[in-house]
Amino acid sequence: TVDTQAQGLHVVITAGPTREPLDPVRYLSNHSSGKMGYALAEAAVTLGAHVTLISGPVNLPCPAGVERLDVQTAQEMHDASMRLTANCDIFIGCAAVADYRATRQAAHKIKKRDGEDGLTLQLVKNPDIIACVAASRPTGSRHPLVVGFAAETRELETYARDKLTRKGLDMIVANDVSQAGLGFGADDNAALVLWLDSAAPDGTGHEQLPAQPKTQLAMHVLRHALARLAAGATP
Ligand code: C5P
Repeated sequence: TVDTQAQGLHVVITAGPTREPLDPVRYLSNHSSGKMGYALAEAAVTLGAHVTLISGPVNLPCPAGVERLDVQTAQEMHDASMRLTANCDIFIGCAAVADYRATRQAAHKIKKRDGEDGLTLQLVKNPDIIACVAASRPTGSRHPLVVGFAAETRELETYARDKLTRKGLDMIVANDVSQAGLGFGADDNAALVLWLDSAAPDGTGHEQLPAQPKTQLAMHVLRHALARLAAGATP
């Protein structure tokens, strides 16, 4: 079902893990499947938006009608995001970005050393992509609307609220990844949605979305984002 509000909008979504090389044959990464980000891309296209999916390495087909940009590292994902954010209406950061990368990538395969049991890797922080996107907007501007995700194993609401404000986001979708069968790698997800709302007593609105297929959850998240975008457009 095409949504008139979504028609003509450009939605940019980051999805999947990033891969940070250590040497020519090894990398640091995580277990993100990319399912939630791909479900969001599919839902946005269904609603009639123009969708660009900035994807880390995943085993998923690109949804029909979605423009996919493949990246490997957090730096590549950052550069693609910053390039595309200028003319986008909604930016959704769904990727599980590696927090650190190797300070230096070894030019040759790191060899096992005789007589030494330990190996120390020196890492450096990657840029926080979604925070950079949010900060690239003029002061007070909510265009593009910036939507983040937070996977937590405890104190879901506290950590999600902290990320919402610290990263300068407009909306955050938080899920408890300690629940079996939900979240990471699973087909289903439950989520707590928080958004900035100056009319609310504590400055944020919230809604609990019960466990459901990620495809269905994606549609709910997008409708929320469209509502936030519409609310931001009226002074
Ligand atoms: O801090 P944390 O990784 O839990 O924040 C999650 C949110 O921030 C997600 O929306 C994720 O895509 C985004 N993020 C990012 N760049 C990073 C780390 C996280 O865009 N380097």
